[in-house]
Amino acid sequence: MMLSGNRIIPDEEVHISPLDRGYYFGDGIYEVFCIYDGALFEKEAHFQRLLRSASEVRIALPYPTERLEELLGELIAANGMDTGLVYVQITRCAAPRSHPFPLNAEAVVTGWCTEYQRPLDQLENGITAVLLEDIRWHRCDIKTLNLLPNVLLKQEAMDRGANDAIFHRGDTVTESSSSNVMMVKDGVLWTHPADNHILHGITRAVTLKLAGQLQIPVKEQFYTVDDLRAADEIFLTSTGAELTPVVKLDGQPVGAGVPGPIIRRLQQAYVARLP
Ligand code: PDD
Repeated sequence: MMLSGNRIIPDEEVHISPLDRGYYFGDGIYEVFCIYDGALFEKEAHFQRLLRSASEVRIALPYPTERLEELLGELIAANGMDTGLVYVQITRCAAPRSHPFPLNAEAVVTGWCTEYQRPLDQLENGITAVLLEDIRWHRCDIKTLNLLPNVLLKQEAMDRGANDAIFHRGDTVTESSSSNVMMVKDGVLWTHPADNHILHGITRAVTLKLAGQLQIPVKEQFYTVDDLRAADEIFLTSTGAELTPVVKLDGQPVGAGVPGPIIRRLQQAYVARLP
């Protein structure tokens, strides 16, 4: 069962027009939620970000977020989902291809959920990454459908034998293909500030809050590729990947080459928050 407009309907009854602007312009936004124990995790933060993304690209939701929340509850129940992911997409509308916004056209809402198990092996043992130039636009804070650079860079990382890419804009480390990046140096946690060059990750915000509670000093400041290469620990944060250690960067071990003590403390604190 899927969300289409204002209803939960069988997958085969969902129809997307080839004239949907999301389809030919990427003119839309999306959000990904985790479901733990049948409930949306960090629901308020995800809805807030969805509303912000919509407003930044001037898309009006066709109904209040309360209704969307109700529909997502129905979607989860209709699919009997316990642990999984929910994907929601809102495109500007379906209309003949022309760059200006059509007047008074209704946004198109679709959504689905899928089984998803926590990536226990990666959480325990970490992943490998390579540094690649961030080729995206300057509004990475909006969760838009335009993910071609992310897709190309992720694929390039995998073609090079790594699990993911860590992006840098010039000298500055930004984020990863679908997660934020954090590093630890001399006991201090560093991460790129929440400006227009990264997505303001919900897992990032939760991690920074947990770091505060654990009295781990945090610097939301720019740091360079050289800083990252000299890091004691590196990890990625995202809804699905939670806090995933990076144990190799460009083929070189990160710190001791195994997940370090700070990520372990943060992971434990994160898991303690899950239902
Ligand atoms: N990705 N940075 C980018 C570029 C992302 O696409 C994501 C999320 C994040 C982490 O955000 P959060 O902690 O709120 O999940 C950072 C989602 C999961 C995706 O596109 O699949």
